[in-house]
Amino acid sequence: MPGLDDATRGRILYGGDYNPEQWPEETWLDDVRLMKDARVNSVTLGVFSWAKLEPRPGERDFGWLDRLMDLMHDNGIGVVLATPTASPPPWMGHLHPDTLPVDQDGRTEWWGGRQHFSHSSAAYRHYAAAITGDLAARYGGHPALTMWHINNEYCTYDWSDEAAARFRGWLQDRYGTLDALNEAWGTAFWSQGYGDWAEIHTPRHAHYLKNPGQVLDFKRFTSDMLLECYVAERDLVRRATPHIPVTTNFMPLWIGQDAWRWAEEEDVVSVDLYPDPRDPFGAQNGALVQDMTRSQARGPWMLMEQAAGPVNWRGVNHPKPRGLNRLWSLQAVARGADAVCYFQWRQSRQGAEKFHSGMVSHAGEEGRTYQEVKQLGAELARIGEEVTDSHTPNDIAVLHDWHAWWAGAQDGRLSTQVDHPDLVKAWHRALWEAHLATDFAHPEHDLSAYKLVVVPQLYALTDAAIENLLAYVRGGGTLVSGFLTGVADEDDRVRAGGMDGRLRELFGIRTLHEWWPLDAGEYVECDAFRGTLWSEEIEKSEAGEVEAAYKGGELDGLPAVLRKGRAWYVSTLPEPDAMRDLLARIAVGAGARPVLDALPAGVEAVRRGDLLFVLNHGRESVTVEVPGAHRDLLTGATVQDELTLGRYGVAVLKP
Ligand code: GAL
Repeated sequence: MPGLDDATRGRILYGGDYNPEQWPEETWLDDVRLMKDARVNSVTLGVFSWAKLEPRPGERDFGWLDRLMDLMHDNGIGVVLATPTASPPPWMGHLHPDTLPVDQDGRTEWWGGRQHFSHSSAAYRHYAAAITGDLAARYGGHPALTMWHINNEYCTYDWSDEAAARFRGWLQDRYGTLDALNEAWGTAFWSQGYGDWAEIHTPRHAHYLKNPGQVLDFKRFTSDMLLECYVAERDLVRRATPHIPVTTNFMPLWIGQDAWRWAEEEDVVSVDLYPDPRDPFGAQNGALVQDMTRSQARGPWMLMEQAAGPVNWRGVNHPKPRGLNRLWSLQAVARGADAVCYFQWRQSRQGAEKFHSGMVSHAGEEGRTYQEVKQLGAELARIGEEVTDSHTPNDIAVLHDWHAWWAGAQDGRLSTQVDHPDLVKAWHRALWEAHLATDFAHPEHDLSAYKLVVVPQLYALTDAAIENLLAYVRGGGTLVSGFLTGVADEDDRVRAGGMDGRLRELFGIRTLHEWWPLDAGEYVECDAFRGTLWSEEIEKSEAGEVEAAYKGGELDGLPAVLRKGRAWYVSTLPEPDAMRDLLARIAVGAGARPVLDALPAGVEAVRRGDLLFVLNHGRESVTVEVPGAHRDLLTGATVQDELTLGRYGVAVLKP
């Protein structure tokens, strides 16, 4: 299978979504001039071009795209060619209302925005295949083509009749019999037993809480249907161009797609990443997504989209202060990205995203945004050849699984304050702040190479996953788990005892008597720290050792942090500093070391092959100890033992 290497050919890809159909052709020449000045070597064409490519059903207008493909090739710029299937032309919804998705209240999602396609619609799939096949036939042999980009951020849910029909088929494949479905969904509760497949619908608006099994399967089904759409288009382009890699762009930590499963179907894993420039944890959140994407890719990955300046979809949208775009871009390269790309090349003057930044902002060539983009392009070109090894294996894995997330995020749970992504962020941030480098893994992956495995929360676990965790600890690994882990099986059936018995035994828990969720702003005192969000009434087994106990209140003296040998259980969410210190202590015990010793807070060190990236996420200058002699690839300077980095400063050190 081809991979990202086939597109990068030893360089870092630099560029972004290019939507030239929004501009007169004279502008294209100016675009090319500015691209070359900024060392742009890759553009993504056609993401939202369906109405232009197929102005009426079955018609084709490829002339403008022919000229662009040639123009890019003549100027040494590679093209990531998108299938335009994320935004069907108005004629499609008009002629085929069944191509439009329907929300759970039965409201149609009309054209006039984007992503208004039903993944289940046979008509949509027909038109999508036709335009994809024609694009592959026309441009498969074009020398500018470096990669296929299928659709864009697959994310539509659909509760329509056609989706319901496919849902029934999907359920028949999964369960075989209605008895098995009734059993899995627990339909004995509230008189929900199904006697005929035709009675089953998508989980539409209901009077009160919906059946959790049905909702969980609908999430699985949605991810699978979108994947079917992706695979259908991928197979068409693959047949025409087996040597050209194929991708589709993920949204970070997005609930709708089982990205582990999807990544298996991609030649290149790519992600769109938009941390808020004003978020004090923007660097940490970016690092999380980058670690997750690299782990899904199991190698180099592509930063498909980021913003050079402000986005326009938050309540208040700030630009990036000087230097931040460079810092966060190099952070991605440090974590394995071989492509640094943006939405979009030139900021639009019309349309819903006219206040969303581009690499060339409304201020044009003289604007700070383009000037910084240009500087970064030169730097990426300088370091590109040196950045080769994509994946330095880390000692620590954070476990994450979409099915566990889906099952645990249902209505009717004990606390809506418990938000799965927030927990994953809190745990990953603690490791980041302890300067510990992490991968992500699925709970059924082989974990034996890791010294420490961290489970922020895996509410539902299969038996295979539980056995995998047990085997990992038996094999000498250290495991630390947060609360609400191992509560349910894959049907969201609560396991006997409120938590799987094998896991209770592993962590030294005799009885889990009750859960005591904490409200926003509420906390519980533990020995040396405060716990937030959650607490538990746990009775330890004889072998369990209390590492920290609750103090005062109902839980006085009961274990907050419990350990049995190398298996740790944290039944609350310690405040951030305590969480960092706890995980740092467990990591040291497990033999996992920080990337560099004595790193100041807010400074990040990341190894990529033999390169050491040092990134100052703060606004003050810092001095960092980097034992030995190095060359900074960005400046050419020699660095001996010590490095000073200014505000948002970065060094890429080679021994
Ligand atoms: C992404 C999308 C782009 C653009 C961008 C704005 O979600 O793929 O097309 O809309 O957001 O931030």
